[in-house]
Amino acid sequence: MLSTTLLEKLNRQVTLEAEASSNYLQMSAWLLSQSLDNTALFFRHHAQEERHHMLRLFDYINETGATARIAAIPEPDTEYDTLISLMECACREEERLTTHINELVNAALEEKDFSTFQFLQWYVAEQHEEEHLFSSLLHKARIINTLDGRALFRFDEEVRKSGLHTPRHHHEHEGSEGHDPHRHHPCHEDHTGHHSR
Ligand code: FEO
Repeated sequence: MLSTTLLEKLNRQVTLEAEASSNYLQMSAWLLSQSLDNTALFFRHHAQEERHHMLRLFDYINETGATARIAAIPEPDTEYDTLISLMECACREEERLTTHINELVNAALEEKDFSTFQFLQWYVAEQHEEEHLFSSLLHKARIINTLDGRALFRFDEEVRKSGLHTPRHHHEHEGSEGHDPHRHHPCHEDHTGHHSR
């Protein structure tokens, strides 16, 4: 059974996840207005993810015999100066969610509510992934925003196209077939799928 404090905090998290979902969906509309269709799709999908986060909490609360409650959420911002300012808002959103999840985890531990503590571990891992995802997107947006940065990204894309970024050319056959540098070089691969004898 949930304590009053934990129930209050879990319900607050339900509302925060709903708010994040609404914010990301609204961001997707601004991105569409800028013809950034793929980024808009990313945010639309992410809005769905936040709804999933909300529903997971909602179900957990109800399963304990308590009642989940969704409070009112603020109206999302509709305008952004730049893609970077939008990405900065998204990063702050994730940091805020992480802070609240950490507070929840701490409260569950203090109350020795190990069931809730265990349930929240999924959110701890999820927040780690999401903070990394959004901060790396912001970092890329900032790099691409400069002339030098665009050149670096062009180089990075060339590395991707060359296939040299995958480790298979260097490690896959090591140890089992001796060391033959020509065999592992991408320029010497037989693209018909047959190995030369
Ligand atoms: Fe519900 Fe993006 O964390």
